[in-house]
Amino acid sequence: MEEEKRLKDGVREAYAEIVRQQSQCCCSSSCCGAGGSAAVSAGYLPEELQRVPQEAVMGLGCGSPTAVAEIKEGEVVVDLGAGPGVDAFLAANKVGPNGKVIGVDMTAEMVDKANGIARTHGYSNVEFRLGELEALPVDTGSADLVISNCVINLCPDKGKAFREACRVLRPGGRLIVADIVSEKPLAAELREDLGAWASCIGGALERQAYLAKIEEAGFENVDIMSERPFFVEVGGGKAMEQLMSVTVKAYKLAL
Ligand SMILES: C[S@@+](CC[C@H](N)C(=O)[O-])C[C@H]1O[C@@H](n2cnc3c(N)ncnc32)[C@H](O)[C@@H]1O
Repeated sequence: MEEEKRLKDGVREAYAEIVRQQSQCCCSSSCCGAGGSAAVSAGYLPEELQRVPQEAVMGLGCGSPTAVAEIKEGEVVVDLGAGPGVDAFLAANKVGPNGKVIGVDMTAEMVDKANGIARTHGYSNVEFRLGELEALPVDTGSADLVISNCVINLCPDKGKAFREACRVLRPGGRLIVADIVSEKPLAAELREDLGAWASCIGGALERQAYLAKIEEAGFENVDIMSERPFFVEVGGGKAMEQLMSVTVKAYKLAL
């Protein structure tokens, strides 16, 4: 428990500092770079990206879940670890006035920033709530779709986060998650290093273990939609470690 708290506090502080400094990077690799250009290389469609508030495009993600989620008008979407809200605003444009998007984030600075952007740009179908993925402030069975972008790797208890995602979905609802996984066990010094953890590296599970956590949480048809390698510097820049950015789709078991 103490270790979980240490990691979470470290992650929260790192992302609060990103907002304070308006810095534009979470990860030390191609996962994140400078705002818009990093977002396009992460898989965002430039024409969709142009239609969201640019303050929300901070290049903190590692994929583009809304580009492949086939979001329909009127759907209810929950964005786990919404950060400044880029994916939530993209989803809001797709669900329209009869739909709703709820972004959840545990860092108050992120939630305040995202709600400020929503107000400034007149988004009435998006709301950002302060809360943890492991205890989502969202009603059971209320969502058609849960998305997440480069966040679950930051959770010490990934099983709990996936069980919560499953709880808030309606039966048959879908999960689209972009995240970082590894192909081999990470060195202990990386797993224990707070900086590496907050940079989306230290908490990366091996691919099969990650997919198993999703299935164990109550999902079926768990599928990798796409994956691409990215490299991170380790040992103070002396070596490179290869990780993978994956986008996974799964469905909550139907009743
Ligand atoms: C790498 S950023 C990604 C932000 C956003 N998804 C994007 O692509 O722009 C990770 C975000 O997840 C949030 N986060 C990390 N762990 C969390 C948890 N356990 N519960 C809620 N939010 C969390 C952080 O506060 C941060 O805003």
